[in-house]
Amino acid sequence: MTSDGFATREEAFEDAENDAINTTAAPAMGAVIAQRFTRRQTLAGLMAVPAVESLIGSAPALAQHTPASAASASAAFAEVAAGLDATHHVAEGYDVQIVTRWGDPLSDGLGAFDPRTLTAAEQAKRIGYNNDYLAFFPLDGGSRRGLLCMNHEYTSSEMMLPGLGARQRGDFTGMNQAMVDIEIAAHGVSVVEIALVAEGWKPVTASRLNRRITADTPMTVDGPAAGHARLKTKDDANGTRVLGTFNNCAGGQTPWGTYLTAEENFNGYFMTDAKAADGRRLTRGLGGADQRRWERYGIPSNWYTWGAFHERFNVDKETNEANRHGWIVEIDPSDPTSTPVKHTALGRFRHEGAETYISKDGQLVVYSGDDAAFEYVYRYVSNGKVDTANPAANRGLLSDGVLSVARFDADGTGVWLPLVHGSGPLTAANGFADQAEVLIYARMAGDALKATPMDRPEDVQVSPKTGRVMVMLTNNPRRAATDVNAANPRAENRFGHIVEIAYADGDHTAATFKWDILVRCGDPAVAAVGAVWNPATSKDGWFASPDNLAFDMEGRMWVSTDQGSASVRAGRADGLYQVDTEGAARGTSRLFFRAPMGAEVCGPCFTPDGETLFLAIQHPGVDGARDWKPFGRDPSFEDPPTRWPDFKPDMPPRPSVIAIRRRGGGKIG
Ligand code: FEO
Ligand code: CA
Ligand code: CA
Repeated sequence: MTSDGFATREEAFEDAENDAINTTAAPAMGAVIAQRFTRRQTLAGLMAVPAVESLIGSAPALAQHTPASAASASAAFAEVAAGLDATHHVAEGYDVQIVTRWGDPLSDGLGAFDPRTLTAAEQAKRIGYNNDYLAFFPLDGGSRRGLLCMNHEYTSSEMMLPGLGARQRGDFTGMNQAMVDIEIAAHGVSVVEIALVAEGWKPVTASRLNRRITADTPMTVDGPAAGHARLKTKDDANGTRVLGTFNNCAGGQTPWGTYLTAEENFNGYFMTDAKAADGRRLTRGLGGADQRRWERYGIPSNWYTWGAFHERFNVDKETNEANRHGWIVEIDPSDPTSTPVKHTALGRFRHEGAETYISKDGQLVVYSGDDAAFEYVYRYVSNGKVDTANPAANRGLLSDGVLSVARFDADGTGVWLPLVHGSGPLTAANGFADQAEVLIYARMAGDALKATPMDRPEDVQVSPKTGRVMVMLTNNPRRAATDVNAANPRAENRFGHIVEIAYADGDHTAATFKWDILVRCGDPAVAAVGAVWNPATSKDGWFASPDNLAFDMEGRMWVSTDQGSASVRAGRADGLYQVDTEGAARGTSRLFFRAPMGAEVCGPCFTPDGETLFLAIQHPGVDGARDWKPFGRDPSFEDPPTRWPDFKPDMPPRPSVIAIRRRGGGKIG
């Protein structure tokens, strides 16, 4: 146990995501909620929504999300038994292939991977650590060859670096610059060409399109905050050129074929040497005029020791670097020489993802959650329209548009509140000097606009079949009974829920919406949990802590989970579940795949033909190792609880991307 009371850094991460940094008072609405849920408790249905909302045009990246049939039902597969052990399990009749693993080479001639001799330079040429969001960009327009883009969210230092032993939060002992530089190179994004050959999906190591983007790769900044004084640093007097992206969680694909990667817990990478009276490093600010801004973003958090070797990560030496992270980054995977772009028009917060949709009138809509306790759900709408005939003409759409934040009202309606400088409370008198500051401090703009504090918004994605927006809310054990609101109705919400948003006429640019709760997660057999599922959900089918989602070609929803160390305490590994959203089966969930112990399941992604499902298996062996009876101690490189997926005695567990295919061929589900 550390002085912070955390057993492991993983627990500290979980706790950090639960940070109650937002102290804005939430209205107490207990009575209203009781009313609302008596009226709407049935799973039968939501508001009237137009039948099938058509996607505009034939944009390549979105075309693959278009359902083949409007008449989908539950997927047909034999459910996996819930449980927890050292390896993965998939529904009967399906095969799991390992596509890429941490350390796999991205070019020919690199040789076998040996984590004991790994250098930063070599790591920058190999697949990074802790793969999260996945996107598949077909090459040749098909489903047998494509570019797989993947995020590398963070590093589990103790599991990837030999000799550190089990690590605690803020335990910088033993970390040297060589190790830090490996970590920097293991973050970011990989772009890798993959092909389906006789043995399954394999990386094409000779591809000229393979690329690593790390926490040190130069990128440009655009949009209203580009060049702003708060983005200028000692190394970048113009405030337009940033090194790197890190803690990339989920993301999105644009209709013009680019990859969006979301910078999530960026605060954790900034450290200070300043100590409080009790000898611990200061967190959440160094005082001064910007103290409230520091606090609101949880900077510094001292999770990593990068700042001991690179001044820009030390807030004592560089106060503005942290303002240059927490954005959505666009990468063109088709051009390995292209410079990634940080789009400030989409706001700065702990972005979980950036899923796109084309509105009825052709505007680009991007939904994004801010993944921390009591944070908000955001929507960006471009001012211009998507030009499907001319992909290059679309590049400005992420630079010029309106970001809004959601307020969920107790009567089942909601409002998108625009983050526009000069409107309402977003004025200089209230601390927002200009539009750039509204976006740099989007959380504070959301506070001023009285957005609804949510139970950790994760992925937010539009069903291509119904046009409804699915909002994953992973959990929030810190919500007090006095803080519940209609859209977050459970106090001490340890299991999360899914909120569904719909527009009266299917217009995703509309200022108002209707909403409902699809499911309240957790074990329906335990009354105190307050879970609400369709009763057809089995004892194996319910889940906790929804994180990512995807829609298959039939428009069916698949949800992956991240319970953290609770997965071990509950004896239920994280998994991938198919969840019905319509008709009599609405609210039914079934377990299709479960991960090895200590891992979460991320980035579900289907090929256009629906025959391959890619999943990212993140941090195998890490979460909850000490609580797992067969192991029962904190894990390390030398002493891991599982060596998935290689199961070789000299190789630690490796975060990996897997492909699931039906034995003998055919669509998933
Ligand atoms: Fe990185 Fe919100 O999960
Ligand atoms: Ca996530
Ligand atoms: Ca996660």
